[in-house]
Amino acid sequence: MRDRLAEVKAQVQTALDVAMAGLPEGELTDAMRYACTGGKRIRAFLVMESARLFGLADPAALPVAAAVEALHAYSLVHDDLPSMDDDDLRRGLPTVHLRWSEATAILAGDALQGLAFGLLADPRIGAPERRLALVRGFAEAVGGGGMVWGQALDIAAETAAEPLDLAAITRLQQAKTGALIQFSATAGAVMAGEDPGPLADYARRLGLAFQIQDDILDVTGTEAETGKRTGKDGTANKATFVSLLGLQGAQDQARQLVRDAETALDPYGEAAGNLRQLARFVIERDA
Ligand code: IPE
Ligand code: IPE
Ligand code: MG
Ligand code: MG
Ligand code: MG
Repeated sequence: MRDRLAEVKAQVQTALDVAMAGLPEGELTDAMRYACTGGKRIRAFLVMESARLFGLADPAALPVAAAVEALHAYSLVHDDLPSMDDDDLRRGLPTVHLRWSEATAILAGDALQGLAFGLLADPRIGAPERRLALVRGFAEAVGGGGMVWGQALDIAAETAAEPLDLAAITRLQQAKTGALIQFSATAGAVMAGEDPGPLADYARRLGLAFQIQDDILDVTGTEAETGKRTGKDGTANKATFVSLLGLQGAQDQARQLVRDAETALDPYGEAAGNLRQLARFVIERDA
């Protein structure tokens, strides 16, 4: 799994570099490239491995993987803005708005979102109907009923009179991080025109486990390991699984979710080995 993740990292970086190669040189493009550098590339891995399950070759899945990572990069740039989480460190480097300016960070995020949708038009992905199905799913996952909605709920929760309960936190996190993870993990099935059901079950559980681990690392992680500021969720009065279940409860919940995620892959047998290992990696990671 680690070898494959390293391979996907290299492939997706090249695909993103190529996608941005024709852009006018200047601050905006520099900021876009900067935002697209680094990261664990978990979402790209989900795209590439779900495609493999259905016998699809890497060159077909790569534009989708690059699209997901470009969109994720935009979401991080905007998430770090002073009006959002007001962070100064991301992937071990100064955040885009500090390196350049707030305006450039907003615009680089906007441009990365456009770039992401453009990548889904790549004919190597497959037939036009399949690409359209991807575009529709991507738009739903990242828009006002998906990721951005989750971000809005997250921001609103900071100033809510009552702390969120477990159901509300689950709903928030399913949208905030779950929706894009689910799009990524089901992309192979959509590209192949196959039933995305088992992968969607896997991804729902994986997405929650992923966000629980993100919240745990905010409490237990170091800035050197995570490459971002830690201890922020508590001070921001964030609604997290850790604030509700406690550290131990959150860890137990994440472990159970990973077991259930692995079970959801049963229909694919041995071929899903890398996806099972990724689920374990998601809660064992320290970055
Ligand atoms: C961090 O995502 C932001 C969340 C959605 C919780 P990742 O942990 O996948 O960030 P990178 O891409 O590896 O930097
Ligand atoms: C970010 O969640 C989610 C999105 C960018 C959609 P967080 O605010 O928890 O992410 P980190 O901890 O800053 O990476
Ligand atoms: Mg945030
Ligand atoms: Mg944040
Ligand atoms: Mg976080």
